[in-house]
Amino acid sequence: MNSAEELDIIKTVLGYCDSGKTHMEPELMMNPVTNYTDPDLLEREVETLFRKFPIIVGHAAQLPEPGQYFTHDDTGVPILVTRNREGEIKAFMNVCRHRGARVATEDCGSSNTISCPYHGWTYDLDGQLRGVRQPSGFDGIDKASLGLVELPAFERFGLIWVRPSVSDTPVDIDAWLAPMAEQLGSLNLEGHSIFREWTLHRDMGWRIALEGFQECYHFCTAHKHTACSSYLDNQSVFVNQYPHVRHAVPLTRITELKMQSEASWDYRPNFMTQNYLFPCNFVQVMTDHVYVHTIVPTGLGKCVFKCLMLIPEPARTDKAERYWEANYDVVRTVFEEDFVIGEGIQKGFAAGANQHFVIGRFETSVQLGQKAIDDALEGRLAV
Ligand code: FES
Ligand SMILES: [Fe+2]
Repeated sequence: MNSAEELDIIKTVLGYCDSGKTHMEPELMMNPVTNYTDPDLLEREVETLFRKFPIIVGHAAQLPEPGQYFTHDDTGVPILVTRNREGEIKAFMNVCRHRGARVATEDCGSSNTISCPYHGWTYDLDGQLRGVRQPSGFDGIDKASLGLVELPAFERFGLIWVRPSVSDTPVDIDAWLAPMAEQLGSLNLEGHSIFREWTLHRDMGWRIALEGFQECYHFCTAHKHTACSSYLDNQSVFVNQYPHVRHAVPLTRITELKMQSEASWDYRPNFMTQNYLFPCNFVQVMTDHVYVHTIVPTGLGKCVFKCLMLIPEPARTDKAERYWEANYDVVRTVFEEDFVIGEGIQKGFAAGANQHFVIGRFETSVQLGQKAIDDALEGRLAV
């Protein structure tokens, strides 16, 4: 069943097919190259975008049972994510309250309690300090106040969000995701399984990686022999769901809908949808499966890209395994094409050829994303 928004998107694309036009922002954007090269700006980006906003750190299938946990370090904050006995998702700084050691040392595990490897202080999956070895040396401590430092964590639409900092301001995650809620809710991501999960450390700034997913102007050049043939050339629809953006990229087969009655139109088989979730996530919806990307800076000119490939049910047969593996191979190839170009852009900064990048009127999500980033950095956008 299409939403009203999806019906609008289909009509808009069919209109573009007739007119030969595409979505246009009012103006070109001149984006200063210092946005990519200034170390002080990167510091502010980390402090603001990667500390004050919720970021997707995983999928519910990574913690299917109470008592399970995983660690997450990409943001630079050591994070422990647990599913407690009540089945709720919790997140903590993975830092011992005794003398600061990393408490959970494995990538993931299952246990009622986690013991710090340094001196054996023990915490439960609600972060409470349960045991202090040789407690006579710690007479008078208030165990209740020495639990792991909790971070705001949320499970919505099968995805796990964490804000990597403590603060007195609560996060209203439902209000934050509201502009995207109808679409995310329609995907049944909570019923999906993880087919593949991968992490890449690349030599390019996080914004370059981000922008690779924010327009389809590059499809028929950068992906000439891969993605190009499946999609209409640069006839996407962008829906501003500030600070998020829905970017609907029509498949070539959408032109067949012109011959069909509106009642029989179906959005999903006719689009790849690249949803930007501010500040650094994409939920990329294919016709029959979904990718969730997280892009985080790891230094000036460096980032980590993490991707989850979600499929609607586990691959139970060899045929299913081969089918999803083939999809995975294609997407890895296509992303590699983007990242090789991205690393080239990064290297080119040293030459000083550009003072600005020229963001075209149809590179809409790049424009909208840039504006939202500026808003957050200048205090006009908060969770
Ligand atoms: S630092 Fe964790 S028990 Fe000492
Ligand atoms: Fe691309």
